[in-house]
Amino acid sequence: MDRHLWTETVIDKIMEKYREVVKRNRNKIPYTAVNGRFDDLSDKNINWWTNGFYGGMLWQLFHLTGLGEYREAAEELEDKLDAVLMSYNGMDHDSGFRFLPTAVTDYKITGKAASKNRGLLAAANLAGRFNPKGNYIRAWNDENGNNAGWAIIDCMMNLPLLYWASEETGDERFYNIAVSHADTAMRYFIREDGSARHIVEFHPESGEFIQDFGGQGYAKGSSWTRGQAWALYGFSLSYLYTADRNYLDTARRAAAYFLSNIPESGFIPVDFCQPADCILEDTTAGAIASSGLLLLSQILSGRETILGIRKNPLQETGFAKEAGQLEDAAVKMLKALEEKRCSWETDTDELLEKGTAAFHDKLHEFPIIYGDYYFIEAILRLAVKEFFIW
Ligand code: GLY
Repeated sequence: MDRHLWTETVIDKIMEKYREVVKRNRNKIPYTAVNGRFDDLSDKNINWWTNGFYGGMLWQLFHLTGLGEYREAAEELEDKLDAVLMSYNGMDHDSGFRFLPTAVTDYKITGKAASKNRGLLAAANLAGRFNPKGNYIRAWNDENGNNAGWAIIDCMMNLPLLYWASEETGDERFYNIAVSHADTAMRYFIREDGSARHIVEFHPESGEFIQDFGGQGYAKGSSWTRGQAWALYGFSLSYLYTADRNYLDTARRAAAYFLSNIPESGFIPVDFCQPADCILEDTTAGAIASSGLLLLSQILSGRETILGIRKNPLQETGFAKEAGQLEDAAVKMLKALEEKRCSWETDTDELLEKGTAAFHDKLHEFPIIYGDYYFIEAILRLAVKEFFIW
């Protein structure tokens, strides 16, 4: 089937499914689904880092359809996240994942002052996690201070909250912190071959590099696929906001590494270096990488504006072939997911099956909300119908 026609068919299926899903799940903040029904972290774990993604899906669906029920549900979810803003220990570096798809998107769409305020509070908290010794944003909290020196590759996706706050307020401290962290990540997280480390530890007082960890991947020195997806997507975003050519080239190297490891099937393992006899998958990595590759492909394609909203910083031409390869790889992964890993029934809440949060967790291959979010984002991106959240 022609690519355009296929994309439109998938969008129709998304709209048909979510009409029912959203009706059934008003007031929930889902993380996973069990027996076809979403769970709800509203009371169980309001601080969890994934609590913005369902809100982001609702805003994408509102943007696509104009139906008020999506907007109302997104606003309800955003209100609940005020509890996180009031929790010092609940706030960590994942403020971008929590507040860009919720408060900041609401503000961009409706202009609501309360939503802008939430976004700026979250950005100020994120900026406050910056350690000028070592120039990194501290990832997580630990009351004993054991991880004060830890930074993780995922944080590249949180930096757009700082770029947004800088543009919104004119206060360049947000921008400066974002690029300082991105420079550190470029230097310490991306290896020669373009693969990404998950966790790097710096000495929190001297800023010196201490060591790296395999984190949610298979082992130290391995290549956790979702981390690789965060890297190629996150550096593309930093390029979009800064026009720093080094970020573009880093995103291209991370993308080239990802492409050279995509299995024939199009299904992405949890770690590109997991043992050959291990068949564990992470569909979320495929969905995130696809969306990021489509963004990078748009940048390299030489078009004047990206996703209809930002001027393309890339003035050079000659990348059309690479842009095509990135788009083809994204479509290959999305088609594999759409055909074999999506639950298209309207009476199940989840969309993507077989997501894996971490290689060494006890539980593998289950629905995870960010897999659904990024799959929908990627499909809408392909059709140039998304609302750009990052
Ligand atoms: N940001 C954490 C993860 O990707 O699991």
